[in-house]
Formats: sequence, structure tokens, C-alpha cells
Amino acid sequence: MRVRPRRNRKSDTIRKMVEETQLNVANLIYPIFLQAEGLPKHPIQSLPGQYRLNINDMLKEIEECLSLGLTSFDIFPAVPDQLKDTTATYGLDAENFYLNAIRKIKEKFPSVTIMSDVAMDPYSSDGHDGLVENGEILNDKTLEILAEMALVQAQAGVDIIGPSDMMDGRVGIIRDKLDSAGYTNTSIMSYTAKYASAYYGPFRDALESAPKAGDKKTYQMNPANKREALIEADLDEVEGADFLMVKPALCYLDVIHLLKENSNLPIAAYNVSGEYAMLMAACEKGWLNYELAMEEMLLSIRRAGADVILSYFAKDYARLKQL
Ligand code: PBG
Repeated sequence: MRVRPRRNRKSDTIRKMVEETQLNVANLIYPIFLQAEGLPKHPIQSLPGQYRLNINDMLKEIEECLSLGLTSFDIFPAVPDQLKDTTATYGLDAENFYLNAIRKIKEKFPSVTIMSDVAMDPYSSDGHDGLVENGEILNDKTLEILAEMALVQAQAGVDIIGPSDMMDGRVGIIRDKLDSAGYTNTSIMSYTAKYASAYYGPFRDALESAPKAGDKKTYQMNPANKREALIEADLDEVEGADFLMVKPALCYLDVIHLLKENSNLPIAAYNVSGEYAMLMAACEKGWLNYELAMEEMLLSIRRAGADVILSYFAKDYARLKQL
């Protein structure tokens, strides 16, 4: 045998020397849940280790993350039911607790990068990402609400706008709205290929934002489809997206790879709540080694082609890398 691949695995030094994929904390965005001021820290049952935090608790959390070198956060609001309505009015209120919190975070920690979520569901009494009329999700009427939501978020200091709603044309209308108000430097990370997935369950528990009726299949993509992701990617590119995201990550590693091969934009992947919950549950039972399984999971997403990974593991990964 002249060829022995094992020679390149014989020591830690050589293994590291020929390692093809690296994942840095700088590639990670940590999704965190915000709740109204004064509410006590609320553990999320189906996301062990994750909490709904009020602004004061969130400032402490961010400070701790910064000390671990983790500097980017995607913030999601848990809105009380009484503030929800059919047109997501509260999401457009410049004084809502979400935008107030973003202003406070940017004031206290100007160097953090904040990503926001643009979609109606946290503020909608229907629990859908778009406007519902007679059971139908209306695309074009939703766009105006989304554009306004993006603008108030940019005004509050958001660095990266994250349209997660999957309405047609939203990236373009948001880009135009931001530009015409002078926010030409506010980035857009589009949820380009967002699938109608069972793996969002724990997130909807966290925000109590599940649809009141029906499902999200008329706007989120069919898990069976891959070529359709290229249609979405082409649209987002011409509409002015700065990043293309695939969501979820693990069941869609092929889609991450496909977008990486077909676009010159940075590719992001959202390692979603159900993926986190699945691993945590197995670890709680003692069936998997947490640190090894987490690192392998994140690495696989990176290897598939993700430049950026949104993950509930971000903080633990940062801690692990510091050791
Ligand atoms: C809402 C939104 C969802 C997630 C991010 N933004 C849920 C959904 O579309 O129902 C899911 C994130 C996760 O599961 O971690 N537009």
C-alpha cells in the first residue's frame, strides 16, 4: 500500500495542519428572546438554557457574551397577547419595548451588532407572518407593513434587518424604504430559503407566536424543494439583500451548499430551535456528549458552506473556544 490516508491523521498537529474547515466565534449570531420590562427571567421549557429576558437581564447577558468574544445578536420579542392585533400595530410603534431595548443596547454597547426580525407574527393576533383576510395571507398588503417595521427598526439602530416572513418582493420594498429614508448603510439578511418546518416548534413556544389557524405552507417553502431556493436567491440578490439565509440548517445542508455554489453573497444558516432542542434532549438523557455533538453540528453547517451561523449554541461555543 503506497497510499495511506491515515498518515495525515497521525497526530494532533498534522490533523490541525490539514483541517479544511474552521469555525470562529466571529461567524456566529446568537438569537435571544426579549420580553417586556420588569418581567422576571423566564426559562423556555423546550429550549433548556435559553430564557426570555427583560432589558436589564438582556444587558447583563450581552455583557457576558461580549466577554466571551461573542458580539452579534438576533433579538426576538415576546409580545403579550393584549398588544397583538390583526395588523401588527405594536410592531410599528417606535416606543414599543423591542425598539426601546435596541436603543438601550446600542447606547450601552455601541460595538455590538444587532440583527432584528421583520415579520408580523410576534405582533399579530393571527400568529401569521403576513396579513390574514378570510383565511388568506395577503402578500402585497403585508409588504407595506413590513417596510414600515424595517424602517422603525433601522431608526432604533438595528445593524442587520432580518426579513423572516417569506412574502414575495419584501427585500426590494424594504431596501427602497430604508434608502429613501437615508438608511443606506443598514444591511438586510434575507431569510431566502425558509422552509415550512416542524423544527420551529420550540421558538413558537418561546414567543407564544404559533399560528391561530392553518399553517405557513403558502409562504414558507416546501421541504421537498431545492431548485426553488435558487429562484428565491436570484430575487433576493437583485432586490438588494446583503446576505442570503437558509433555514433550518441541518435538514437543509444541501440547500446551503447549493446557494454557496450559486451566489457570491455571504451565505447564512439558521440552526433553529428544534435542532437545538433535539440535541439538548439527547444530552439530558446522557445519550450524547454535549460539547462534541454541538461542535460537530456547527462544523457541518459551516462545511456545507455557511459563512454565518445563527445558533442557540453560540454562547456555549464561544465559552468552549475560550477554554
Ligand atoms: C418568525 C420566525 C420564526 C423563526 C424565526 N423567525 C418562526 C416561524 O417562522 O414560525 C424560527 C426560529 C427558530 O425556530 O429557531 N417569522
